[in-house]
Amino acid sequence: MPKVILVGPADDFNKNLASKMGISLVDMQRRVFPDGELCPRILIEKEGQIRGEEVILSLRMPSKACNPNAYLIEVLLSIRNLREHIGASSIRVIMPYFPYARQDNIFRPGEPLSAKYVANLLEKAGAETVYAVTVHLHRVGSFPGLFQKARGVNISGFRSLAEVLKKVDLQKPYIIAPDEEAMVWAKEVAEYLGTEDYTAFIKERDVETGEIKTTIKEIDIEGRDAVVIDDIVSTGGTMANAVRAVKEMGARKVYSAFVHPVLVGNALDRIIGAGANEVIAADTLIWEGSKASVVNQLVEEIKGR
Ligand code: R5P
Repeated sequence: MPKVILVGPADDFNKNLASKMGISLVDMQRRVFPDGELCPRILIEKEGQIRGEEVILSLRMPSKACNPNAYLIEVLLSIRNLREHIGASSIRVIMPYFPYARQDNIFRPGEPLSAKYVANLLEKAGAETVYAVTVHLHRVGSFPGLFQKARGVNISGFRSLAEVLKKVDLQKPYIIAPDEEAMVWAKEVAEYLGTEDYTAFIKERDVETGEIKTTIKEIDIEGRDAVVIDDIVSTGGTMANAVRAVKEMGARKVYSAFVHPVLVGNALDRIIGAGANEVIAADTLIWEGSKASVVNQLVEEIKGR
């Protein structure tokens, strides 16, 4: 009878996952050669150690100095290695932050449909199931729909944020989405927090320069706490604009809550500088500041099947 084995770096995230699943964890070394080439090594002690076992590979992308290209290559090399040399009988992959998801459309002629191509690369390498968290798909519609053969499972990361927000003494919270796409998430978090007060600003992004313009909706937030909610913070521009606006409208405290702390460059400073009192993000990327965890939901999903 094959055993289920977790393979991934032995960090707190994976240790917690393995312990809650009641399975063993095989550590990984994320080696980078001087020229940038990657050599992810699965730390088995001898050939054949996990041959025939059902492997769940769990790899997270580092935040801040993040490199989605390197991350993707690392995942692809590891899946192929597990299939061809390590001899796993089946391979499931946990990629809490699914890279390239935002390019889920051909916005301008000649652009690639990256989200779909990345999904195809994963299944062609040998992934049978891919677990991801709050995948940023607004055009394609569904994460499973990106795959031809593999099973795509998209878990909401907003429950983990709401669990942390519930422990904060929020004063008449108002949930704000920084753009209309995020309205559905603002509604989800509002429901978790038991409030009907949520709204969205309007954001336009220049597709050439990436510059963001946020159109504010005036709301009566004087003396109340604002929770600005989004899926991803990359450069921090979207979040900072919304945080600044609610602060200027008189919010008592502003909580910046987001699932994926990609946090490029000075993104965190921009959000704090705009007036955020507290930043709450999940552990979908490797970031020491994460206060929320998606581990329980992953365990529920994996055990449920
Ligand atoms: C885009 O629509 C996403 O939901 C985020 O709002 C966006 O990725 C954030 O990007 P940035 O932090 O660079 O403004």
